[in-house]
Amino acid sequence: MPRKILVTSALPYANGPIHLGHLVEYIQTDIWVRYQKLRGNQCIYLCADDTHGTAIMIRARNEGRSEEDLIASMSESHQRDFANFGIEFDHYGSTNSEENRELCAQFWCSLREAGLVTESTIEQLYDPEAETFLADRFVRGTCPKCGMTDQAGDNCNCGHTYSPTDLIDPKSTLSGATPVLKSASHLFVELEKLRGFLTQWVDQGDHLQSEVANYLKGHFLSDELRNWDVSRPAPYFGFEIPDSPGNYWYVWFDAPIGYIATTQQWCVANGQQLDDWWKNDHCEIHHFIGKDITYFHTLFWPGMLHTAGYCLPTKVHIHGFLTINGEKMSKSKGTFIAAETYLKHTQPSYLRYFYASKLTPRVEDLDLGVEEFAQKVNTDLVGKVVNLASRVGKFAHQTGLAEEYPDDGGLFEEGAKAGDEIAAAYEAKDYAKAIRRIMELADAANPFVEHAKPWEMKKDPDRYEELQAVCTVALNLFRQLAIYLSPV
Ligand code: MSP
Ligand code: ZN
Repeated sequence: MPRKILVTSALPYANGPIHLGHLVEYIQTDIWVRYQKLRGNQCIYLCADDTHGTAIMIRARNEGRSEEDLIASMSESHQRDFANFGIEFDHYGSTNSEENRELCAQFWCSLREAGLVTESTIEQLYDPEAETFLADRFVRGTCPKCGMTDQAGDNCNCGHTYSPTDLIDPKSTLSGATPVLKSASHLFVELEKLRGFLTQWVDQGDHLQSEVANYLKGHFLSDELRNWDVSRPAPYFGFEIPDSPGNYWYVWFDAPIGYIATTQQWCVANGQQLDDWWKNDHCEIHHFIGKDITYFHTLFWPGMLHTAGYCLPTKVHIHGFLTINGEKMSKSKGTFIAAETYLKHTQPSYLRYFYASKLTPRVEDLDLGVEEFAQKVNTDLVGKVVNLASRVGKFAHQTGLAEEYPDDGGLFEEGAKAGDEIAAAYEAKDYAKAIRRIMELADAANPFVEHAKPWEMKKDPDRYEELQAVCTVALNLFRQLAIYLSPV
């Protein structure tokens, strides 16, 4: 029986370009999806741009255009980048869609009915010039502990963490104005009331990598779960809350619901029913995300799905962060590399191969060392895989292939036997292991050609059949490798 599988990657923010860090995730997911499709499973891969929030609003304002205009051009550039890297979505949506607005209202009603929404007034820094409340990252000032200037709103380089209201001489990064304290009423989801459900979900089954489950138990579930602030007062680019005019759902409320809204759009275009995918115990739901957004996908989102009567994710697959030459990507060091920039220099398939060779099922960071990258591409892809075909390709044009597969000393059979193990590695997201196995097969195949020396056979017309046999073996072994590598 083919499995029915819905797969998502995190919805990239519409306020920036796709970079090599993002691509770890989209390539990881795309490989998994291609593997599932290759196995004959019914698998759909959905994604969308995450369009709401203060950052988009401010940027549109600075660029003198509407938010809709800005997000339309970002969506175009994101989709172009993804397509250039061979990332193939079944549908690419936007969180700023009517489908999403309706689904948000539906989730909201469920939360209200379940008695999980509460209202309270909070004080927050407000930028009187930009006329907007300021998230921590939009405030900078002098550290109250060490006196260092130009520090972030919530922590200093010295390691001290604080609230933005503790900063000395705070400034808004939006306008440079001095923020003032202002109070506003916010709506909260009382997550603590879902503790029983959440504890069980985190504990039971195979929904999470074990290190993630342990992290949640140790850091969040061991204490009272804090109320989740899900509303923002106007001005805010997002959906206005129907029963709370002047307030908008916080971007992290509507973003994951975007997974369902995008499925809905795909369903309409493909004659399918949403409930077959999101309210069907026989459908698997897999989210691929990075470690920085664990909390949202493993506590809030399951809580919301549970309350609104949707299926829970079968698995949330969490990966680590990309470093370049051992360090965090950095604009000033020139290692913040946009997808578009990479493509000006080299092939997308090299990056896919390189990431695959490094990816494991664990939540570990992954390093792109420039030397290692070049070496892997040259040694493995060029030296082992492509070389196998290119050494015989020109002869095979003249000899054609043998009608019967010649004796290859058991190489093809060995390769076929490795199939299950390679498949299991892809399934388990242990691409590093799959690649290692495939390269072992390549290592066994290449000496066959080296010993046979087809370039010498070529000089002797009496050895035509021998040459044909060598070409036949080498090209079939190459084909076997190509099939195993095809998800990558
Ligand atoms: N918009 C949110 C996700 C909402 S999902 C309902 C978001 N967007 S993002 O553009 O910042 O990141 C998209 C994905 O890329 C996230 O899963 C994030 O972890 C991943 N990565 C972003 N930078 C990354 C690296 N440097 N390395 C690896 N993955 C990275 O978060
Ligand atoms: Zn400090």
